[in-house]
Amino acid sequence: SSLSISPTTALQSPLQIFVRAKKRINDIYGEVELYIADSCKFLLSLPKDSDLITKDELVVVDSHGEKVKGIREVLSRDHMKVAFFGRTSNGKSTVINSMLRERILPSGIGHTTNCFIQVGGSENGESYLISEDSTDKKNVNSVSQLAHSLCTGSLGDSALVRVYWPTDKCPLLRDDVVLVDSPGIDVSPNLDSWIDRHCLDADVFVLVANSESTLMLTEKNFFFKVSSRLSKPNVFVLNNRWDASASEPEFLEEVRRQHLLRTVDFLVDELKVCATRSEAEQRVFFVSAKEVLQARINEFKGLPINSRLNLNQLWDTVSPKIIDILAGMIADGFHGRYFEFQDFERKFEECISKSAVRTKFDQHTKRGKAIVGDTRNVMEVLLERASVKRTTKCQSRREVLDHLDFTEKQLQLVTVEMKDKICKMVEEVEHKVSKAL
Ligand code: GTP
Ligand code: MG
Repeated sequence: SSLSISPTTALQSPLQIFVRAKKRINDIYGEVELYIADSCKFLLSLPKDSDLITKDELVVVDSHGEKVKGIREVLSRDHMKVAFFGRTSNGKSTVINSMLRERILPSGIGHTTNCFIQVGGSENGESYLISEDSTDKKNVNSVSQLAHSLCTGSLGDSALVRVYWPTDKCPLLRDDVVLVDSPGIDVSPNLDSWIDRHCLDADVFVLVANSESTLMLTEKNFFFKVSSRLSKPNVFVLNNRWDASASEPEFLEEVRRQHLLRTVDFLVDELKVCATRSEAEQRVFFVSAKEVLQARINEFKGLPINSRLNLNQLWDTVSPKIIDILAGMIADGFHGRYFEFQDFERKFEECISKSAVRTKFDQHTKRGKAIVGDTRNVMEVLLERASVKRTTKCQSRREVLDHLDFTEKQLQLVTVEMKDKICKMVEEVEHKVSKAL
């Protein structure tokens, strides 16, 4: 049977929940920014002696303009963050590489990763890194270069190096996911500072366990610490190196049952991050990161990866060395493990995008509401004051008119009286004159 491993298209990906929500909230903040700017312009245009607005009120609206700018900046940097933890050599870096479909992070036997490495999308198509002790961008084009840059730094194991990688091959990076790799939790005494510095803003945690052994106390204790600081963190458990089970098929089912039982106990009863056993079962996967990575790299190169049949057909075209590599990769049960890894990715994408929308945009929404509310209050108070002023002005105008009316009437009366008096006087004078004649 053939196996389709084409990447989920952007439209189907549950990560789009976050991507779309981010665009929407950014558009809304664009409108809020215009509204605040308009209000500010209007308030500043009011006559200085009008008493319509206080200095404090003006400051409130003006400072909101700055706040909105700040929020839009934070928003443009908001992303979904997933952090990977586990003991040394369990395959944390390999899991991340397989999710990214490319060998980006250095991996290997022994203690490889010696500080925190965050991989995110690069906005200009270049690959570079920025370490915590400087603001310089260091260009990196290959894993060996990256490994070299990481080794030469004198950073402690809690330090963070940010790797920016082109998004063309990695749908996760294109959709705003950043993946954080960590050193083995068994090699550091600094677990508290790890949590302070790298875990508090993570949306999802992936515990990369080793299915060849069992969940260890160091791994459990680390997650106890994490869950005491965060309420109900989202935890996935990958039982990695499950390809090893292929060599012992007779114990496979039993081992799987035992691992599942213990991991579910851990998530439900001990860590209490899952409410039911069936919910916890959806968070536990048996995978082989190494196989998935190799398959995806082959697929990218256009090599068939999926069946022995295809390998046989390859004899004429591909060198025996490559055939060997491919054959080595396809241990029994490869398809099942591959599908399980895809299943993990799907559930992980759903979980992380929903959780990030809730935690990140909820805060922005609340702050946005407060900003718009405050500005509206100032404008309402202004409207109120203006209408009071208008009423009092109207009142005094009416009083003046009444007064004028009254005066006019008085004048009329006076004029009539005067007229009478003058008439009388004229009559009297006429009378006197006629008598004298
Ligand atoms: P540190 O960085 O040292 O903490 O280790 P890590 O957890 O990042 O492990 P890494 O990814 O470096 O893998 C360690 C070794 O295990 C490498 O040689 C990998 O190729 C190998 N490996 C990783 N995943 C698997 C797997 O699923 N199956 C097998 N067989 N080997 C694996
Ligand atoms: Mg590593």
